[in-house]
Amino acid sequence: MKNIFLSLISCVFFLFSLESFAQGETFLADRHAQKGVNCVACHAETPPQQAVPTEKCQSCHGDFEAMKEKTKNLSPNPHYTHMGDQPCGECHNAHKPSVNMCGQCHKINMNVK
Ligand code: HEC
Ligand code: HEC
Ligand code: HEC
Ligand code: HEC
Repeated sequence: MKNIFLSLISCVFFLFSLESFAQGETFLADRHAQKGVNCVACHAETPPQQAVPTEKCQSCHGDFEAMKEKTKNLSPNPHYTHMGDQPCGECHNAHKPSVNMCGQCHKINMNVK
């Protein structure tokens, strides 16, 4: 019974992801632009050439402790795991789809934005 319920939930999520795909995929950098965070707010160099260090993300979003607090109601909390403090780029990508690094080893569904 529990399995049927979980399958239904996954189906709903699958349909949602198809829908967002149909609407045209946006990446994290696009969503920052929508909030007024432009290229130079993340990239030190002009024009941008390299990845953005974790410290830069933290200058706006706060340290590991702050991120842990922000997502404390999620299970598992993606920002507080046995993997310890991870660089943001292990999961979040800015110009391509983000990745669920936990999925390398576990069947954990995480929707990394
Ligand atoms: C100049 C400040 C700034 C920097 C630097 C920055 N962000 Fe953000 N970020 C924001 C703002 C503002 C928002 C939108 C408001 C919010 O959700 O907090 C946001 C939103 C997000 C979101 C939520 C996106 C969504 O769709 O809900 C994630 C995830 C995120 N940032 C990750 C990162 C990562 C990873 C980096 C480093 C590569 C980074 N941010 C660098 C300001 C910043
Ligand atoms: C192990 C993967 C992973 C790592 C590493 C990671 N994140 Fe996340 N992050 C996630 C997931 C999954 C979510 C989506 C949580 C949800 O469902 O709302 C998220 C959500 C966020 C959000 C939106 C939170 C909210 O509720 O508005 C921000 C901001 C964010 N991450 C910033 C960061 C920053 C900054 C770093 C590096 C210090 C980082 N993340 C490292 C997986 C990760
Ligand atoms: C939220 C922070 C953030 C913002 C805003 C952002 N970038 Fe990036 N950028 C990154 C990260 C992180 C990488 C590393 C690759 C990735 O995650 O996709 C990157 C990589 C790049 C690269 C190197 C090539 C690559 O894909 O590795 C270029 C070029 C680039 N960005 C251009 C831009 C331009 C132009 C803008 C403004 C329209 C912009 N970026 C806005 C975080 C950001
Ligand atoms: C390199 C492989 C690997 C990666 C990547 C990984 N784990 Fe694990 N994880 C393990 C192993 C090995 C164990 C211990 C054996 C077990 O219980 O399966 C474990 C145990 C766990 C447990 C149960 C034990 C506990 O700590 O209470 C959870 C929950 C968990 N991992 C979550 C995560 C999350 C969330 C991520 C992503 C941030 C992640 N793991 C990434 C290998 C990994």
